[in-house]
Amino acid sequence: MPVTTSKRGSFIVLEGIDGAGTTTQLQNLVAWGKGLGRGVTSSFEPSDGPIGAYIRSALRGERTPPPQDAIALMFAADRLDHVSRVIEPGLKRGDLVFCDRYVGSSLAYQGSLCEPGWVRQINARATTPDLTLYLRIDPDVALERVSNREGAHRDMYETKELLERISSAYDQVYGVTGARELDAVVIDAAAPIEEVFRACCAAVESHGLL
Ligand code: TYD
Repeated sequence: MPVTTSKRGSFIVLEGIDGAGTTTQLQNLVAWGKGLGRGVTSSFEPSDGPIGAYIRSALRGERTPPPQDAIALMFAADRLDHVSRVIEPGLKRGDLVFCDRYVGSSLAYQGSLCEPGWVRQINARATTPDLTLYLRIDPDVALERVSNREGAHRDMYETKELLERISSAYDQVYGVTGARELDAVVIDAAAPIEEVFRACCAAVESHGLL
């Protein structure tokens, strides 16, 4: 039985370009948190709500993609819906709340395709994470991983030129290059999976989030 607590939980986000391994590490962290006897909420964006479902089908090319500004608004709307349905209730239960992608994805992806200041504005109301783990990887290595995935579909962002732009946008957002916009622990995602996982756990522990 998970330990119940009246204390607010911790909100931990994984970010990185497609192929950085955020989904794998989310699964590892969720298993780790449960193994420690903690209540855990595991989630992702685009979320499993109605706006998230619409976004995914547009990304897969199943419907005519809306203009980039409209997509940015949809990601931001999905986020507020996700926060109220999943993230805040998890935090109120005292859970470790892990989320695969969040505001950083919008700043990096939509910030590369729309006006970045505006993208920041439309995301200003989303709950701030207690910790963001930025899994940083060379776009060429990431693209190779994405192409080797079994049954891989490519969404509209998985081209070399775009991933390079999105990767530099992430570096800017998290202060690898230039002034940092958002806080994050930067982790070398080209390292072996186990090593990346250990670095993620160490960051959660050193931030006192357990
Ligand atoms: P994801 O589910 O991580 O990719 P996959 O379907 O390969 O597992 O995310 C879907 C895509 O959405 C991914 O290319 C990143 C993009 N995205 C944005 O552009 N902005 C956002 O705010 C979010 C959350 C995701």
